[in-house]
Amino acid sequence: MTALFVGVVKENTPGERRVALVPDVVGRVSGCGFEVLVEAGAGSAAWFPDGAYAEAGAAIVTRDDLFARADVVLTVGQPEAGTPASLRAGQTLVGLLQPLRNPGVMAELAAAGVTAVSLDGLPRTLSRAQAMDALTSQANVAGYKAVLVAADAYSRYFPMLMTSAGTVRPAEVLVLGAGVAGLAAIGTAHRLGALVRGYDVRPQARGEIESLGASFLDLAEVASGAGQGGYARDLTADELVAQQEALATAVARHDVVITTAQVPGHRPPLLVTEKTIKMMRPGSVIVDLAASALGGNVELSVPGRPVVTDNGVTVIGADNLPTEIPSAASAVYARNILALLEYLSRDGQLRIDTTDEIQAGIVITHDGQVVHPATAELVAESKERE
Ligand code: NAI
Repeated sequence: MTALFVGVVKENTPGERRVALVPDVVGRVSGCGFEVLVEAGAGSAAWFPDGAYAEAGAAIVTRDDLFARADVVLTVGQPEAGTPASLRAGQTLVGLLQPLRNPGVMAELAAAGVTAVSLDGLPRTLSRAQAMDALTSQANVAGYKAVLVAADAYSRYFPMLMTSAGTVRPAEVLVLGAGVAGLAAIGTAHRLGALVRGYDVRPQARGEIESLGASFLDLAEVASGAGQGGYARDLTADELVAQQEALATAVARHDVVITTAQVPGHRPPLLVTEKTIKMMRPGSVIVDLAASALGGNVELSVPGRPVVTDNGVTVIGADNLPTEIPSAASAVYARNILALLEYLSRDGQLRIDTTDEIQAGIVITHDGQVVHPATAELVAESKERE
């Protein structure tokens, strides 16, 4: 059988600096029996020059050549508008495609006969899936970078310092949402010397927060929000208001607040209201990792644009922090892609089998159909509305 071609595109979503494969991993992808094509300049924004890919055994090609020759197209983010038109029947598109946010694009990919594989839907608690867990690898990077962004915007020190001019008190940092990104933020802020508190609506997060040297913010008045599969559930409107009120005083006494709360398939919960922000001290900083066009965890956050309020609080809507640390984010993402290719292939050929527990979560379109049930439901709903 002839080897399949795996193509690495240059991401062209504005601001995206990551790349799906890094030169270090090219040899191992070739070892699985694939030939690797890399679009010229694909890695340059993450400091991986074309020469490094070529040295690792990849062929550097134009974008048109890549789409014409690649059997498997690797991307990082969701497909840009027009992607389905560049692809042809029989090709496979792999990335963090956010199918539940892009059901229309998934329907177009299915109609074009493209197999779409999206790592967003990976069953993350299965131990054999963990090497492919791109949500975790990217959330770890985001949590780390969130602290650097916050420290940069904060006009004082994070650590306690004893100087000849007196003692400098440490910054007090509160992290709301202690999943993967939140725990990475807690660990990083603690290592920078801040006094860190963490909070999550899932009671089991307490132990994880405390194991990182932070203390758990106990809000006895908020009901447990543990949901399915280790995730949080969507709180009711009344529970959310109670939570906002309980959080207000705690938020106001911190210098830096980093929010990371998400509920899969729902709008991120609003944790910090404008009223709470008004209670904060001038110079305080909020970084909202959940910022999105739908709204984030913080009432005033705008994705990609810092806002300074009248009372001197800097609110940073940080919706895509992994792209701001592109070499590290790409390196771990490439490992996830390698693990995925190893999992899906035998003798250099892809074996799509949606009866497999892992593939059932990640194969979104195949054989002309949207095969991922949750995406198919959204596609059907949007057709009904038309
Ligand atoms: P996520 O990105 O969906 O949410 C982030 C955090 O926000 C979660 O900890 C969630 O409980 C919290 N949250 C949601 N609503 C909230 C609210 N109203 N108030 C406060 N906090 C709220 O979650 P992520 O980071 O993807 O992981 C969720 C869980 O899954 C974590 O326990 C994580 O450790 C676990 N996990 C386990 C894996 C495994 O077993 N291999 C792999 C990945 C994650």
